[in-house]
Amino acid sequence: MSASRIGRGALKKAQIPTPGPSRTNPIQAGQTRSDTWQMRKQTPLTKISPHAPPSLPKRANPHLLNLRPEPESPPRMSPRAMTVLGVGVLAMSTYCGYLYASYRREVRQSQALEVPVDVSDRYNHTASSFDADVEMSEKLMRMGAKRRELVQGARGNVLEVSCGTGRNLEYYDLGGERRGVDEQGRAERKGCRSVTFVDLSPQMVEITREKFARLYPQFGRVVFRVQDAREVPPPDTVTGTATATATSRPTTNDANGEQAARYYDTIVQTMGLCSMPDPVATLRHLGTITEPQRGRILLLEHGRSHYEWLNRILDNLAPAHADRHGCWWNRDIGQIVRESGLEVVDVQRWHFGTTWRYVLRPV
Ligand SMILES: C[S@@+](CC[C@H](N)C(=O)[O-])C[C@H]1O[C@@H](n2cnc3c(N)ncnc32)[C@H](O)[C@@H]1O
Repeated sequence: MSASRIGRGALKKAQIPTPGPSRTNPIQAGQTRSDTWQMRKQTPLTKISPHAPPSLPKRANPHLLNLRPEPESPPRMSPRAMTVLGVGVLAMSTYCGYLYASYRREVRQSQALEVPVDVSDRYNHTASSFDADVEMSEKLMRMGAKRRELVQGARGNVLEVSCGTGRNLEYYDLGGERRGVDEQGRAERKGCRSVTFVDLSPQMVEITREKFARLYPQFGRVVFRVQDAREVPPPDTVTGTATATATSRPTTNDANGEQAARYYDTIVQTMGLCSMPDPVATLRHLGTITEPQRGRILLLEHGRSHYEWLNRILDNLAPAHADRHGCWWNRDIGQIVRESGLEVVDVQRWHFGTTWRYVLRPV
């Protein structure tokens, strides 16, 4: 019930403070004496006796004035917090300025370089530090899971080109080829019968060979070759792995009537298209040595992004990156695949579109 309905007299009796101006204290809540003096000055028509209580401006309703809640003052930041915040902002802007200046300097240097298209020889010098160099960024981007998912799709006679330091080795299913079911319960063939590892850099191949021997000491159907991916011949009929002399490509049928051993069932390549001088020709060649019906080419690559601002950064710094690391990181992987003429079975992209996963088949 409001004060007006109870009645001012009753409230006074009960000694409940009534809303409205206090008669004993002429200064309103929230007003100072100087405020009151200002009010007096603004009402020149009112004759003010020095003993008379100060009068309110004519239009002010004292009841409403008194009922208005006290305005809450915003919480004030302590001087210490303000200092910390100020120093933080200053440090942050200095760091951003430094980054931007370094980026501009790098771009200038990068654009001034004359870098050949073929930078694949860089890996001969970086092989020993390659794993340490890429470890952190691969962890942050969770590339291990992407490699695993890709390589677990490899089956039959497998060829991995641009194998590098064998960063995919641990994900192969080398339990031999067998029947199984996929995640949807459909029948599929699983496991690798043989594996052939190929890379242009002898230093890289040597590291893969050592790692493989440690991981799979019992597995005999493996071959390591220093070779251009564009020149890999079809696999050997007997072992399923590559031989130095096998260059013809006759089709043979095994006891089950399947085409066997003159093609690879699966070709794997991870982060390889960025490093080779003619990636389209390489893909076309790989298509010719992949089993035509059920064979697959599995790619995990990096290149251009979905976003133009990021592509601009990749373009600006590409010559310096290629010169140092042997990789053109601004290639359009989609365009390369289209030009290869291979059929796209599946494609996925991550990391602003810079990481590309393809499942391809020959046409
Ligand atoms: C960025 S590394 C990737 C290594 C590895 N596949 C991985 O995912 O970590 C690129 C590799 O491709 C190899 N390479 C470059 N051009 C090649 C070619 N034409 N044929 C075969 N390997 C090539 C390089 O020697 C290097 O080992």
